[in-house]
Amino acid sequence: MSETKGRIALVTGASRGIGRALALELAGRGWRVVCVARAQKALERLDDDIRARGGEATLVPLDLRDVGAIDQLGGALYERFGKLDGLAGCAGVLVALTPAHQATPSLMDEIMAVNFTANQRLIRALHPLLRASDAGRAVFLSSSVARKPRAYWAPYAASKAALDAFVTSYAGELNVTPIKANLFNPGATRTAMRAKAYPGEDPMTLPAPEEVAPAIADMLAPSYSENGVLVQFERR
Ligand SMILES: NC(=O)c1ccc[n+]([C@@H]2O[C@H](COP(=O)([O-])OP(=O)(O)OC[C@H]3O[C@@H](n4cnc5c(N)ncnc54)[C@H](OP(=O)(O)O)[C@@H]3O)[C@@H](O)[C@H]2O)c1
Repeated sequence: MSETKGRIALVTGASRGIGRALALELAGRGWRVVCVARAQKALERLDDDIRARGGEATLVPLDLRDVGAIDQLGGALYERFGKLDGLAGCAGVLVALTPAHQATPSLMDEIMAVNFTANQRLIRALHPLLRASDAGRAVFLSSSVARKPRAYWAPYAASKAALDAFVTSYAGELNVTPIKANLFNPGATRTAMRAKAYPGEDPMTLPAPEEVAPAIADMLAPSYSENGVLVQFERR
């Protein structure tokens, strides 16, 4: 905790699922958490939960498809904090499973905008803030289908493959900086997204987001020294 007390992390997808659990985990470790998602009420509930644990949150209700708002967020965070110590790209959408040849333009637009372009724009807007930290750490949530695509998962798999390629390339440019950028594959986790993809599955057989979040929080710590790796969650 002493290692991370007072550090500032931005978590996307903080309104529910893995992003929410990560925001709580980080707050419990002493981080100030900038929480990004669209659902304002859910963010306010998260704020209450973080405060109840003695933590501090900054809420940013934002649609990540609005790339101009991402650029503005970079400026606002610079004005307020002057640096960013952790960036966790947890927001993601499945939209729908579909045969590749039936993927509609609107489905492709949304899935690429949230899963790929938003993270690219976050890197662009927030790299200078991560650079201003003594140990900027960035983690982006991947998926097993990024590297092993499956039938009916084409849009989601393509968006995550693009994210993996972008983040791995970015990591390769960081050796002259203290920043580390990595990918994390949570595997099957008990969230709304998983239930949408596998409606017949018993969610109680899966790890809860609270089980997964500590492994991501570890990757944001200043002592985390890997760069350009994909970490697979393993249940303990
Ligand atoms: N759950 C799994 O089994 C699993 C497996 C492999 C990888 N993953 C990855 O893990 C990450 C977290 O997934 P999850 O299962 O926790 O999903 P989830 O419960 O569905 O949560 C998704 C989050 O993304 C946010 N989001 C979606 N569209 C957004 C938009 N346009 N603007 C801003 N925020 C948006 C949602 O917030 P709002 O709706 O409030 O905006 C929500 O907080 C995702 O990247 C997912 O691809 C999950």
